Amino acid sequence: MPDPQLNDVWKSLVAPVGGDIESDWCQSAEYYDVYRAVGRALQPSTILEIGTRVGHSLISLAIDNPRLRSIAWIDNESYVAGSNAKAAANIAASLRKFRPDWNLPKMMWSASHELAPVYGLFELCHIDGDHSYEGKIRDLDFCAGLSPNWLLVDDYAYHEPVHKAVTDWCLDRGQRLFSIPTFRGLAFIPLYGPLEFGTLKLLTLEGGLSVKAVL
Ligand SMILES: C[S@@+](CC[C@H](N)C(=O)[O-])C[C@H]1O[C@@H](n2cnc3c(N)ncnc32)[C@H](O)[C@@H]1O
Repeated sequence: MPDPQLNDVWKSLVAPVGGDIESDWCQSAEYYDVYRAVGRALQPSTILEIGTRVGHSLISLAIDNPRLRSIAWIDNESYVAGSNAKAAANIAASLRKFRPDWNLPKMMWSASHELAPVYGLFELCHIDGDHSYEGKIRDLDFCAGLSPNWLLVDDYAYHEPVHKAVTDWCLDRGQRLFSIPTFRGLAFIPLYGPLEFGTLKLLTLEGGLSVKAVL
C-alpha cells in the first residue's frame, strides 16, 4: 500500500469531529506531518500522550512507526465529550486501514492523572493537555517521573504560559531544550540517551526536520 497522505487519513476517521478537517490546524503542512516525521525518525515503541482529543497527534506519531507496541494517554475530555473512546476508535481504524500488515499497538487511556494506572515505561511522552503554566509544570513532572527518552510539548511558540513553563522547567534542571518549527511550535526535550550523534541526527537526517537549540 502506498504511504497515505494525512489528509486522506483525516477524511477516513471513524469518529470525526465536525469542522476539524477544514480547520487551519488540520490543514497545515507544518503540523501533523512534523509529528509524523518525529515518529518515523525516533521509532518509539511506547508512547504516552497527555491531551489526545480524538487522536490526530497519536495517529501521526504512529503511522510511520512499525515498532510501536503500546500507546497510553490521559485526557479529561474537557474539549470533546467521549473523546477517549473516539480517539481509540480512530487510532485503531486508521492503522488497520492504512497499515493492514502491522500488529495494532496496545491502547490504554484514563481521564485523569490520578486514575492513570502504572502503564509502564515510555520512550516518548507528548504533552498537549492543560495549557496553563501550573498545568504544564505538573505534566512535565508527571512525564519525567516515567523516565522517557524524549519529551515533546506542543504550543511552545504559541502560548506564553506554555513557553515559560517549558523554559523554566528546563532551566531549573539544567536540561537541554530544542525547538522544532511547527504550526504552533514544538518543544523537544531529550531526557536520556545519546543526543548529538543519536537523537538529533535521527531527527534531522531521518526526519528531515530543522531542530534549533534553545538551552
Ligand atoms: C489541544 S487538545 C489535544 C489535541 C491532540 N494532541 C491532537 O493534536 O490531536 C487538548 C486536549 O487536552 C485535554 N485536556 C485539557 N486539560 C486537561 C487536563 N487538565 N487533564 C487532562 N486532559 C486535559 C482536552 O480534553 C483536549 O482533548
